[in-house]
Formats: sequence, structure tokens, C-alpha cells
Amino acid sequence: MADPHLVVVDDAASLARAGADVVADVIRADGPVTIVPATGETPVGMYAELAAVRARGDLEAGAVSIVQLDEYLGLEPGDRRALFGWMDRTVLQPLAIDDSRVMRLPTDGDVDAACAAFDRDLGARGAIDLAILGLGTNGHLGFNEPPSDAASVTRAVDLTPDTIAANARYWGGEDDVPTRAVTLGLHTLLGARSILLLVSGASKHAIVRRALEGPVGEDVPASFLRTAQGAVTVLVDRAAWEGA
Ligand code: GLP
Repeated sequence: MADPHLVVVDDAASLARAGADVVADVIRADGPVTIVPATGETPVGMYAELAAVRARGDLEAGAVSIVQLDEYLGLEPGDRRALFGWMDRTVLQPLAIDDSRVMRLPTDGDVDAACAAFDRDLGARGAIDLAILGLGTNGHLGFNEPPSDAASVTRAVDLTPDTIAANARYWGGEDDVPTRAVTLGLHTLLGARSILLLVSGASKHAIVRRALEGPVGEDVPASFLRTAQGAVTVLVDRAAWEGA
């Protein structure tokens, strides 16, 4: 366990380039690689940068395995709000990673039992090489809403009012945001060989400071990054770090 490596960059474009360098290095490693890619707006520029590197012929990602980070519950098949669709548009298609290489989170039937089976399968595969994460304004990672403890498992969760308000910008309004979701647990995320947390914009200033400089605890799930087993890189743009 070591302190997170904090890198402050000028702006969102620099964040995208610096993040793409970190991810490309992991993808280029010898042997099979497993990555958890966050959805949300923060990493979109980085994924576009990776797609550009691939388009230049400098990155081959077809053999990467993907583990889904989070997904809404209660959606019909084909619903435009599915986070799998977001990941498909921003990560899988641009990087030419086939759907068959994705471990999708369970959303049907007995979700809690299916989540337990999911964690067993994931554990049998070995550690995740890289978890790419964003930061909720309430300190969540994935949909590990406060309070979430460091041992939390993959599970169904109720979204907090903070998250519903923050996610309204994706879908048109708060009434359009599903109220339940499934998320990888912090136990899985904190066990990754490496973690890349991306934080952009002044709206994340207070929470990124709390996560990295405040007390470690379940009220700010991202604070547990300071207890992660692997290497943690926190890439923050100046607006998020300085708050202006
Ligand atoms: C969302 C997602 C997270 C995402 C985070 C930040 O609610 N559950 O996976 O990383 O909040 O999102 P954004 O990057 O859009 O600010």
C-alpha cells in the first residue's frame, strides 16, 4: 500500500492525454489484460484519445478483457440509458473490443445471488489489472454510494439523491434517472493491480480534496483509495484541484 500518485494537469484535454498514456501502457503489457472502464463524462475524452492512438496503428486492444463497473437496474432491453450501451459507444467499439470479452454485471432475476456468483467468477479469474474510475460528487466510486465500506461486494444499491441529481444531466432530468443500480464492490476495486482515478472540473473540487486529504471512511468511499493494494494514480485537472 502506498499513497496515491497525484498528477495535476492544466485542463480536461491534458487529462485525456495523460490518462490515455497510462491506459495504453497497461494494454501494451505482455499477456492478457483485464480492465474496468468507468462510464460517465470524465473519461470520454481519454477514450477518444485512445481511439485516436489505435487509429494511427499504435495500439491493439482487441485482446483486452473488460469487467463492467456499474449498471442501472430496472431498464428494459434497448433502453437508451443502459450504461453498457454507453461503454459500448465510448470504449468497446472505438477500441474494437468484442462484446464477448465483457463480463457484464447481472441485472435480472435474483440480482444479489447473481452478484455473489459474479464475484466468485471474477475472483477465479485473478486480479483486475487496471480499474479506470471517476469520482461522484458524493464521493462514490462506481455506484458505491456513501456509506460503503472497503469490504463491500458486488451488489444492488439504491442511488442517493445526490447521485440522481448529478446523473440527471446525462438523461434529461431527475425523473429520467433510474433509482437503483448494481455496482462492483469496493473490495474488488481496491484489489486491482492498478487504479486510475480521473477528476475534472470545479464541481469535483470539494470532494476530491475530502477523498485525498480528509478522514478515510465509508462516508467518502473514494477515500479508501488511500488503502488500495495496488498502485493508485489520481489524475486531476487544475479546475478540480484548485476549485476555480
Ligand atoms: C456516475 C457513475 C460513475 C462515474 C461517476 C462520475 O454516477 N456511477 O461510474 O464515474 O458518477 O461521473 P462523471 O464522470 O460524469 O462526473
